[in-house]
Amino acid sequence: MSSDSERKPTIITICSTKGGVGKTTLTANLGGFLASLNKRVLLVDADVQPALSSYYELAQQADCGLERLLIGGDLTNTISATSAGCDLIYSDDPEGKLQDWVLHTPDGRTRLKYLLNQLKANYDFILIDTQGAVGPLQDAAVIAADLLLSPIPTETMSAREFARGTLGMLGRLQPMTYYTTLTLAPLYGVLYRVDRTKDAANVALEVREELGGGGSGITIMDAVIPSAVAWREAATQQVPVHTLTKHPMAKLSLMAVIAELGILPVAQGGGNHA
Ligand SMILES: Nc1ncnc2c1ncn2[C@@H]1O[C@H](COP(=O)(O)OP(=O)(O)OP(=O)(O)O)[C@@H](O)[C@H]1O
Ligand SMILES: [Mg+2]
Repeated sequence: MSSDSERKPTIITICSTKGGVGKTTLTANLGGFLASLNKRVLLVDADVQPALSSYYELAQQADCGLERLLIGGDLTNTISATSAGCDLIYSDDPEGKLQDWVLHTPDGRTRLKYLLNQLKANYDFILIDTQGAVGPLQDAAVIAADLLLSPIPTETMSAREFARGTLGMLGRLQPMTYYTTLTLAPLYGVLYRVDRTKDAANVALEVREELGGGGSGITIMDAVIPSAVAWREAATQQVPVHTLTKHPMAKLSLMAVIAELGILPVAQGGGNHA
């Protein structure tokens, strides 16, 4: 790897303290799109409700997933391959034991970062999907990140609700950085499932007015992800949305997000990450 690529944000955690906002859909489709650009992508399902694990069909299934990785501290046989061209560490924790384990293990919140850092040489991007509620495993996924991306749905959420939830969660983790070398990754918010209603326009305006312009701890992106049936169709067909050629807008919006995050060289996706 060149020193330039080492500076790039590799681990991107898609997070929000609210459920149903589009985290899994965004994670799967960003991953599928980046893989189509010949990037080596690893998806990590850190949600006890393992929606990402079955989002795509598996081309090859490893013996185990996140539980072995974290509790065993062992990467062996934890990486599956999906039909979308991304690898996957699936969620194998139906009883939610990992939450307790992370909570009660001294290095619980930092071990995921340590282990995924070992995989950075093998991947251009590691995308972590999280549960939509505060919890120790979500903390671990946030701490592991080089960059945090949060969908902000315009049909349900207000700027205040978002600030209370997701920004509050980051504020709670801040003390972990005081006496250590840990830093929290920059947080990007993308207005999500934007439709043509007046409500959506009002929420978008409110979010930009209250949280945009710096100082709030989040960068509200200019790029937005529209609400479109294509995303549901793609999920049903278990394919990345950009492959549905009759819905080119979905691909364009993913390209805009990637360009604005600056995670690809200019020729492929946009500017460099600041
Ligand atoms: N751009 C979009 N346009 C329309 N519908 C969408 C879009 N993205 C996602 N959806 C739909 O929104 C719903 C919630 O999405 P998703 O499951 O990705 O959210 P989530 O944040 O992962 O939820 P949870 O917190 O339960 O894990 C799904 O039915 C999905 O198909
Ligand atoms: Mg989800």
